[in-house]
Amino acid sequence: MRIDIVTIFPDYFAPLELSLIGKAREAGILDIRLHDLRSWTHDRHNTVDDTPYGGGPGMVMKPEPWGEALDAVAAAGPEGREGAVPRLIVPTPSGAPFTQARADRLAAEPWLVFACGRYEGIDGRVLEEAAARMPVEELSIGDYVLAGGESATLVMVETVSRLLPGVLGNRDSVDQDSFAPGEMEHLLEGPVYTKPAVWRGREVPPVLLSGDHGAVDRWRRDQALRKTARMRPELLGEGDPSRFDRRDQEV
Ligand code: ADE
Repeated sequence: MRIDIVTIFPDYFAPLELSLIGKAREAGILDIRLHDLRSWTHDRHNTVDDTPYGGGPGMVMKPEPWGEALDAVAAAGPEGREGAVPRLIVPTPSGAPFTQARADRLAAEPWLVFACGRYEGIDGRVLEEAAARMPVEELSIGDYVLAGGESATLVMVETVSRLLPGVLGNRDSVDQDSFAPGEMEHLLEGPVYTKPAVWRGREVPPVLLSGDHGAVDRWRRDQALRKTARMRPELLGEGDPSRFDRRDQEV
């Protein structure tokens, strides 16, 4: 997958050299490119913002650098895919919710461009104009306001990257995650344990040592139902009610 990130803080993305994502980049699974928005400014101060029309607090990102940046980035796509069009992702608190289901869809795309806004946001014409040339999604990572789109982009890039084939050692671990499509779609994952079997007088639940895979699966599902009821009861009302069988009702 090819990912381009346009930002005024390219250094913000140093963590993308570490861990799973760093390895995926080295392995050629992920091609991440950073672009400094200021390289598309032409004044002495490399200005990217100005006061809002209509008044009000804060500053708005100017359309000209963004227009040039998106033209340049969208014209230089992955090799061998000449004429390809990226999907433009714009992190904003006023976007649609970024969910695991949306991450799954984005993981199937060959090329994403993230446009990181700062201040009060990007001039509204930029996305309007971009949308005439490429699919655009405004996405929010939660109902709170960050100082800019950079940390939201890190969250989304990490969430999408770990879904790419070859990035995680064990593909099954994705299927058992909280929110994973399928059995876990509207459930939270329960507790997990490793050795030693007794620690500070506390035992690992015996069923996990039983070797009975059916019993282990049943126990994990029960734990997921309990955890969801405790932390996020509203999730139990989501999805098809027939996803609960008789034994689920007994929990
Ligand atoms: N930029 C500022 N706040 C944000 C949020 N909650 N999600 C995505 N981008 C943002």
